[in-house]
Amino acid sequence: MAKQLGLTPPLGWNSWNTFTWDINEQLVKDVADVFVSEGYKDAGYEYIVIDDCWSLKERDQDGNLVADPEKFPSGMKALADYVHDKGLKFGIYSCVGTHTCAGYPGSFEHEFQDAKLFAEWGVDFLKYDYCFKPRHISGELLYKRMSLALKNCGRDILFSACNWGEDNVYHWIRESGAHMYRSTHDIRDNWDSIKGLALSQLDKASFTGSFCHNDMDMLVVGMYGGSNNDFIGRIGGCTDTQYKTHFALWSIMGSPLMIGCDIRSANEFTKKTLLNRDLIAINQDTEGRGAYRIKPEPQWFHNDDVFMLVKVLSDGDLAIGFFNLSDGQREISLQFWDLGLPYASGFSLSLYDCWEHKELGVFRERFAPTVPAHDCLVVRAKLV
Ligand code: GLA
Repeated sequence: MAKQLGLTPPLGWNSWNTFTWDINEQLVKDVADVFVSEGYKDAGYEYIVIDDCWSLKERDQDGNLVADPEKFPSGMKALADYVHDKGLKFGIYSCVGTHTCAGYPGSFEHEFQDAKLFAEWGVDFLKYDYCFKPRHISGELLYKRMSLALKNCGRDILFSACNWGEDNVYHWIRESGAHMYRSTHDIRDNWDSIKGLALSQLDKASFTGSFCHNDMDMLVVGMYGGSNNDFIGRIGGCTDTQYKTHFALWSIMGSPLMIGCDIRSANEFTKKTLLNRDLIAINQDTEGRGAYRIKPEPQWFHNDDVFMLVKVLSDGDLAIGFFNLSDGQREISLQFWDLGLPYASGFSLSLYDCWEHKELGVFRERFAPTVPAHDCLVVRAKLV
């Protein structure tokens, strides 16, 4: 049986972070090809999503959106067919407002018409942004509207809401029908942005889960400052260690993993990171639990930049991330008592390193790795 729509966090690629307005059908085809040839598809990546700037600035005389014929000369249907022929899924972008964030037509008062058109084109995923929202209507209602339109358009279309965590979204988005929702303002390709986004979501663990995932924004892993967009970070960029920690945080916190770099030219480190099957397995665990935070001992010594995240997995294992977002090396000490494992239980934990892909051994009562600045260690822990 096919996996239910939105059961686990969607995995894919999105054009925005690197290419912004500079998108075209060849790029999408190339990404689809690379998904297959470089193992992204085998690792679970599925959706190839075109973000803003794909349409003409005006609708046609029937009120339909029109794909820009210079960027997409074969049309969206043919492009979706190409992506589908590779066994992948095709995504597109629109907006609750009168215009998209880049000034193209939005879907306001065209929701049912646009959903039908997307279904005819073979769209499988819709990212739905929040710019130019008319003031007199709530965002909550507009997301319910498009959700209803998509659910009744005759095709399974995953609904990716994007209102940047505004208007108390945590408290109404699940029941609106969206499969994922952006909880943050736009990511930038630098360490401060990654750290800030992660810290902002640490207390939101109960607002993510199967069928409605907290989307912490698209990944900047592997961008190294390569973007058309100055805001995202043409001059920015991160170290390999920072990208590794970014990917680990997004994985264990259950965010959708939407690649944002140019995977056609990804280096070995980027591929090793994005194709890390142990981290992807934690992200894709079907119980879809959020990750809770534990403060390391001694608590007075560490500020909020040093913490552990624990995700309860469906097979009884625990994913445990030791995160050091501070600027100096730290010992991060975990007492197993804090996981709910009293000494008298008789159990120890067998730990497996999800980055090096190797067993670390069996530990009793306590484990205290030393983690370099901006680095992390994610283990899969089994009771033995
Ligand atoms: C907003 C979104 C981004 C991107 C742009 C497109 O800023 O948050 O992810 O979709 O719009 O204009």
